[in-house]
Amino acid sequence: MTSTGRIVFAIALLLGLIALLPRLAARLMLPYTVVLAGLGCALGLGLGLSDHLVGSLPGPLIWGLLDQVRQLDITPDILLWVFLPILLFDTATKIDGRELLDDLGPILILAVVAVLMTTAAAGLAVWSVSSFSLAACLLLAAIIATTDPSAVTAVFREVGARRRLTLLVEGESLLNDAAAIALFGTLLSIITVRSTESEVTVASRLVIDLGVSFAGGALVGAVLGRITATLVSRIDQGGPAEVTASVALAYVSYAVSETYLHVSGVVAVVVAGLVFGTLARMRVGLKEWQSVSTIWTQLGFWASSLVFVLASMLVPRTMVQAQPTDLLLLGVLILGALAARALCLFGVLPIVRILLKQRPISASYKLVILWGGVRGAVTLALALVVAEDVRVPADIRHLVSVLATGFVLFTLLVQATTLRALIRGLKVDQLTPVERILRARALALTQGEILDRLSEAAIVHGLDLEAAEEVEALYRKRLGYLENTGEPAEEMQGQQLRVALATITTREADAYSEEIAEGTISRRAGAILLTRTNDLLDAIKEGGVQAYRKTARTNTRLDRATRLAGFLHRRFRINSVLASRMAQRIEIRLIQRRVLENLIAFTRSRIKALFGERVTEVALHVVEARIDELDRALDAIRLQYPAYWHVVSGRFLSRTAVRLELEGYQRMASEGLISPEILRHMMDELQERLRAFETIPPLDLNLDVDALITSVPLLGKLDEQAREELRRLLVPQLALPGERIVRRGERGDAMYFIASGAVEVQREEGEPIRLGTGDFFGEMALIMRRPRVADVVALGYCRLLVLRRDAFRNFLKRHPDLMQQVRRSAEERLRGKPPEREPVPA
Ligand code: CMP
Repeated sequence: MTSTGRIVFAIALLLGLIALLPRLAARLMLPYTVVLAGLGCALGLGLGLSDHLVGSLPGPLIWGLLDQVRQLDITPDILLWVFLPILLFDTATKIDGRELLDDLGPILILAVVAVLMTTAAAGLAVWSVSSFSLAACLLLAAIIATTDPSAVTAVFREVGARRRLTLLVEGESLLNDAAAIALFGTLLSIITVRSTESEVTVASRLVIDLGVSFAGGALVGAVLGRITATLVSRIDQGGPAEVTASVALAYVSYAVSETYLHVSGVVAVVVAGLVFGTLARMRVGLKEWQSVSTIWTQLGFWASSLVFVLASMLVPRTMVQAQPTDLLLLGVLILGALAARALCLFGVLPIVRILLKQRPISASYKLVILWGGVRGAVTLALALVVAEDVRVPADIRHLVSVLATGFVLFTLLVQATTLRALIRGLKVDQLTPVERILRARALALTQGEILDRLSEAAIVHGLDLEAAEEVEALYRKRLGYLENTGEPAEEMQGQQLRVALATITTREADAYSEEIAEGTISRRAGAILLTRTNDLLDAIKEGGVQAYRKTARTNTRLDRATRLAGFLHRRFRINSVLASRMAQRIEIRLIQRRVLENLIAFTRSRIKALFGERVTEVALHVVEARIDELDRALDAIRLQYPAYWHVVSGRFLSRTAVRLELEGYQRMASEGLISPEILRHMMDELQERLRAFETIPPLDLNLDVDALITSVPLLGKLDEQAREELRRLLVPQLALPGERIVRRGERGDAMYFIASGAVEVQREEGEPIRLGTGDFFGEMALIMRRPRVADVVALGYCRLLVLRRDAFRNFLKRHPDLMQQVRRSAEERLRGKPPEREPVPA
């Protein structure tokens, strides 16, 4: 066999063995990685023994297999260039960067701080009891500073942690890979390029190098990730092309950073994966994204399994070389690393949490995170890189390979295997009293339904009725037992309400996901809605019903992007951004309204059956309040922009129609009435039509001065010449609901006429006063040259005409009649007389 043939054969053999492991792991109730390491060690042991036992091994097959595997020579280059990009890119694409964005600050702090703390603590600990250089000890510590994201995620899934917390730790785990590997690279270069510089220069160079390499890598990754996401959204080829582009992205960003730009390739891959994953998930179709994600999961599985097996194959050989002092050092390393991580969890995380304004994380959770910090493929790969690097002095290679491997083995054999017991011991996985009640109710409900159907089934299928009765008796007994669990106490009802609302909201999220999958809502809108439901879920978990209500209200309020769009409109007369934001908000509200409407029915039937009358009443109330709020917001738009409202409603209905059509075709196909060929043809056509609805039609803000002037009676009465003059002086402006147009105490710089909409004047004392179409405000500060006397807040969308201070003075000087009127009104307002309003023309 040629050498290439041997390598291919050996890898194929290994993959064949690996394929059997997931099932074995489930049988043995052990984490998968533990079984993997076991396989690797066994192979390594076999290789070691086979040298002595040539010929006496049972059968030529095993001998042949070991011989093939022996040929596999994994060089550092292969690890760094082939496996590492896959391992990192895979995890990075799994995280939705938009969710990460909210907590990016704390995550970055946590990731960088955790790596630096672990590296420093464990490195210094080993250094203090050994004769190795500080750089060598720090290198070792950097290698073991990265936790395995998949292991961490598995732990969290096991304990059912809150979503935001999971995201925090997942994100941290991913970014700490990048930080630790970047640190590793710099330390390795210090060790291999032996220099005569002083330690201070070396240390300062380390910090600068690290910063530049980190920032540079992030920039390369962000740019390439973005470009690829844009390209991929144009390809639209149903999967294969998209997957290929993502694989190319992973390797190109690594290669470009490492070879041409000399910045951190690892950071580039992580950031490229994050950016690509976040953008492409929204821009390519659901099917395409699923292909991308399935293939990457597969690649990640191969890479981590192979690295694991190949690295643990060296374990027996490495461990044979281990000396008693190594064991001591390993103990110190483990203690140092655990202490640093504990400090991070118990010392740094609380500060981060306060910054985040989150509920405290219980000590038992933290203990689980601490113990669950298993090290995996990345650590082993890095250790192998050092072990195989001939430029590194032999004693350091020995130190790193023995201790890092020992460390991984410790986390796998001791931590991972006892984790489940710890979780159980700390009772983090136990059902809460509310969950127990729900479990009993759910069981009772289903068993009741089963009882109803048993005899029916016996009759329909012509079975023995006596047998049916026996089964029925069994169920009746269990049901009696379940129903005896009793009505929950008062305080329990509050908790039940939480669970009920969480269930309803999860259902809401499912509805959005379904609509995205069917293409009936635009992906962008769908993504926003999903983020919002996640916020709601976190709110209910953290602050109960109050927090839920509050978050639901803030969700309908103006978000930062819309406020920014409003600012661009006011300051720089850029209207397009505001118009498209508003259009998107309308679409989102319409979808939300439809889904919430369906949730009412869901609550009335399913929730009521499970949670009982009282809880359902309150839950319904909460959902209905959300619908009311949406209606108010939609009404505000409809009043201001009836024509646009008409267009958007039409599109919304068309989408719904397409969806119904789709369901119809699918039904016909499943009944065999039309062939798959025809179905595909029809679906393609429908997709094409849906795509046309993806972009939201532009909204005309309707800010034409001419038209607006006619709505203000005061201005409408002016003669033609004066109106012509005014037309040039007045500036149209749209105020958003809740926007503070004028602030009390500020210096006045303009006066406003309301061409449509309503505002509220909020004075320091007395009831707020409403002004509507045709009214004006902001005149007092200009006439009396004093600070604004009140806040003026828009009640809905208001179209205003703004007259700036200088223009106001010039114009009114030449039109004393008008000045008189404005002045009179200002004086009356000051005296507190109700405003005199002229009838508004119909
Ligand atoms: P100004 O003081 O410039 O800014 C706040 C504005 O609120 C003020 O001008 C008036 O236009 C308006 N305002 C204040 N008091 C009243 C009132 N009593 N009735 C109607 N509008 C008022």
